[in-house]
Amino acid sequence: RRLGRSKEVMRQVINKARRRSQLSTQHLESKTSPVEKPVSPGPLRIAFPEGDDKRIIRAAARIVKEGIGKPVLLGKPDEIQALAKQLSVNLEGIDLLDSQTHPQREDLAQQFFAMRARKGVTLAEARRYMLRRHYYAPMLLLQGEVEAVVCGETYHYPDSIRPALQILPLAKGISHASGLYMLLFKNRLIFCADTTVNITPDAETLAEIALSAADTAHHFDIEPRVALLSFSNFGSVKHSLVDLVQAAVKILHRRRPDLVVDGEMQADTATNEDILSSTYPFSRLKEDANVLIFPDLTSGNIAYKLLVELGGAEAIGPILTGLSKPYHVLQRDASVDAIVNIAAIAAVQAQEIELSQQA
Ligand code: ACO
Repeated sequence: RRLGRSKEVMRQVINKARRRSQLSTQHLESKTSPVEKPVSPGPLRIAFPEGDDKRIIRAAARIVKEGIGKPVLLGKPDEIQALAKQLSVNLEGIDLLDSQTHPQREDLAQQFFAMRARKGVTLAEARRYMLRRHYYAPMLLLQGEVEAVVCGETYHYPDSIRPALQILPLAKGISHASGLYMLLFKNRLIFCADTTVNITPDAETLAEIALSAADTAHHFDIEPRVALLSFSNFGSVKHSLVDLVQAAVKILHRRRPDLVVDGEMQADTATNEDILSSTYPFSRLKEDANVLIFPDLTSGNIAYKLLVELGGAEAIGPILTGLSKPYHVLQRDASVDAIVNIAAIAAVQAQEIELSQQA
C-alpha cells in the first residue's frame, strides 16, 4: 500500500519526463516544424559516475525502458559489460564512457584548471581531478555533453555534492544550492527543505531555500504554500533564532509578493488549517502548508527521517535545487526504484530549464 502512493506520483513525473524525450524526437524528425522547439534534440543524456555499480546498471536499463533518457555510464566499459552480462541486463540504449581514455579529458582538465587556478589548483592537479569520475561528470554537464548527473551510490553525501558546488553555476538569482525531500502521506504531500545541504543558513539563504523549494513544487505542478518553521508563532518568543526566521520571511515577502508564504510558525500551526484560521487569521497562509522550511539542517534532516520512520511517510529524494543544471546525489543505500525516480526528476528539471531559457 505504501509503495502505491509514491508509484502514482512518480508515474506522473515519469510521464512528464517521457514527454521531453518524445518532443525532442519529434523535433529531430520534423526539423522544419515551427510549432514546437521546446527542447534540445535527442534523448536526455544522464551521466552516472558510478557506472560500474550493479544497482546503477539495473536502473539504467529501466531508464531506457521507461523512455526517460539515455544513461551514460562512467567506468571501464569491459567491466560494465561483464557486470551487465552477470545481471542479464541489456545495455542497448546506454552509452559507456571511460573518463581515463575519453578524447576530451585534456580539454576538460584545461578548463577545470582555468576555473580553479585561483583556488589553489595547479594544471597537474587539474589533470588528476579529471581522473576522478565525480569531477569528470559535472565537467561533462558543464560542457553540455550530458544534460544531467546522478551520483552518490558509493560516496558520502558531502563528497558527492562538493564537485558540483565547485564546478556548476548556480541558478539565476540563487547564491546557495539546497536539498529537499518530497514526503507522501496517505492524504497529503509535503516538501521539506533544507534537509541535506546548508547546515546553519543565514536569513538570505533561508529565503533562497524557500524559493527553490517553491519552484520545485511548481515543477511537479503543485501550487506551493510555504511555511517557515520555528519554535515560535509570529513573534510569540523573543530570541535571535526566531529573528533569523522572521528576517527570511521579510525577504520573501519583498522578493516574491506573489508567493503564498508566511512565518515564523510552529510545525502544528503550519500543518493545521484550524489553528491557522482560528488563531492567526492574518497569516498569508490560509490553508495548511505543503512546503515546510526548517530553520537549519539539524531540524530538517531529523524531522524528515522521523516522518519516514515513525510517521509512515514515503520519501522521494533527495532533490538538489538551486544549481543551473540537474545534478542529484543519492543516498548510499538507494534502491533501483529510487535511482530511476531521481533520473525522472532530473529529466523534468532539464525540461523546465530548457523552457525557461527559451522564454
Ligand atoms: N551552495 C552553493 N555552493 C556552495 C554551498 C551551497 N550551499 N556550500 C558550499 N558551496 C561551495 C563553496 O562556495 C565552495 O566553492 P569554491 O571552492 O568554488 O569556493 C565549495 O562549495 C566548497 O565549500 P566549502 O566552504 O569548503 O564547504 P565544504 O566543502 O566544507 O562543505 C558541503 C560544503 C559539503 C555542502 C557542507 O556544507 C556539508 O557537508 N553539508 C552537509 C551535508 C550533509 O552531511 N547532509 C546530511 C546528510 S545527506 C542525507 O541525509 C540524504
